[in-house]
Amino acid sequence: MRKKIIAANWKMNMTAAESVSFMEDLELELKNFDGVEIVIIPPFTALPRVSELVSETPGVTLGAQNMWHEASGAFTGEVSAAMLREFFTRYVVLGHSERRTIFNETDELVNKKVKAAHAANLRPILCVGETLAERDAGTHHAVLSKQLKGSLAGLDKEQMLDTVIAYEPVWAIGTGRTATPAQAQEAHEFIRKTLAEIFDAGTAAKVRIQYGGSVKPDNAKELLHQKDIDGALVGGASLDPRSFAKIVKAGARG
Ligand code: PGA
Repeated sequence: MRKKIIAANWKMNMTAAESVSFMEDLELELKNFDGVEIVIIPPFTALPRVSELVSETPGVTLGAQNMWHEASGAFTGEVSAAMLREFFTRYVVLGHSERRTIFNETDELVNKKVKAAHAANLRPILCVGETLAERDAGTHHAVLSKQLKGSLAGLDKEQMLDTVIAYEPVWAIGTGRTATPAQAQEAHEFIRKTLAEIFDAGTAAKVRIQYGGSVKPDNAKELLHQKDIDGALVGGASLDPRSFAKIVKAGARG
């Protein structure tokens, strides 16, 4: 049984002060809520504050939005895995499409980051997904397969089990255009099949695969109840504690 994982990717939003009131409101909305793993992924500057609040809230863990793969050195503007671990960060989002397109991150670089994250006991949330042109051209399987094989190269099965995949079709991110539950399920099934090829069927069956791309309270339930969808990576709708709490509740069984 794969426990659902619902993550709030705040992107470049929320000061430390704003994140405190978010966490207070979220706690009120989700009092005694259980059964879904919740990950809050603030910008780096809010990690220390959110880390303290998360440690007081059962079932909620902390994630970071990115990291650099080297341990230390002359990498102005970058943050290492050990720096994230200092605040008890458990997850790190790697290969988000905004990093791939705006910051030119390649599968090769993402692969280095994935390995460095595991070496530091951080669990990667590896993002993959096709653009609209790639989907229209019918090449989304080839794109997903290339991203998965490139980004996961050299990982062993144990490390794969400590990795979460996020399927985020680029055309659905921040656009209000969600993949239909059937489109999302089809892509997730393909991702699981590819993981079975790279690792084995038993490993692939245990890996959690999140869907991301305009997840909202009104579409979350149907998406989250698809066979191979094990959670959501939520951007825009995660900035409001009430709408994020509704998505978390939609992930509960029943
Ligand atoms: P969105 O972002 O929910 O605003 O579409 C999702 C993401 O980029 O992780």
